[in-house]
Amino acid sequence: MSDTAIRPLVAGNWKMNGTTAALREPRLLGAMLKGVKLKCDVLVCPPATIIRRAKAVMKGGKIKVGGQDCHAAASGAHTGDISAEMLKDAGAAMVIVGHSERRTNHKETDAEVAAKAKAAHRAGLVAIICIGETLEERKGGKTLDVLTSQLKGSIPEGANSGNTVIAYEPVWAIGTGLTASTAEVAEAHTHIRKEIGKIMGAEGAKTRILYGGSVKPSNAAELMGAANVNGALVGGASLKAADFIGIIKTYM
Ligand code: 13P
Repeated sequence: MSDTAIRPLVAGNWKMNGTTAALREPRLLGAMLKGVKLKCDVLVCPPATIIRRAKAVMKGGKIKVGGQDCHAAASGAHTGDISAEMLKDAGAAMVIVGHSERRTNHKETDAEVAAKAKAAHRAGLVAIICIGETLEERKGGKTLDVLTSQLKGSIPEGANSGNTVIAYEPVWAIGTGLTASTAEVAEAHTHIRKEIGKIMGAEGAKTRILYGGSVKPSNAAELMGAANVNGALVGGASLKAADFIGIIKTYM
């Protein structure tokens, strides 16, 4: 399947930002997208505390709601954790797993990320599996090897193009204002496409690969135009509807 046959996804990761007052943004976004024929899917991942309300303000609209992490177990003695089933119950359609901030702050391993992605599938959620190299790894010429090993370790059995999305987020580009060049993005994404073909078989060719890391309205079109890029995972610029729409416009 050619790249153009894949429906892109523009996903916003709010991280630990947003209380009830922030719901005006998805409400605004929903209004902005009313009557617009989108050529991509749009997802907003607010904090878990407002998923249900975010879904309610966008009711009937085109925007899906997602979680930012889930526990691998469906329930149990895991104080403070949230299961994929709970996210699904709150109205989520997808969940981000293995974000570099979780891999760093919570020491999550590839095996844990794979278990979380499997939990997402069990609950009927699409897993957005994040991978990406650090600056040190890039400088050491290890980028593609790091991506290969993260993909091998983080994609669970049963992953297919319908239940899994890969997000390439170079750690050094997250929240820094730095972005990978289009050549670097194309190289990484083309490598990921090849590697997921080995892991997922024919499904790999149909699976969405998002780029994330300082995506904003001014650079979105260029980044999204790189080979094997099927959308974006957006942090800071997804918090304001006016900025997020500027990225979504790449696919309008
Ligand atoms: P920024 O867009 O703020 O760089 O964040 C990217 C990210 O980590 C999305 O998951």
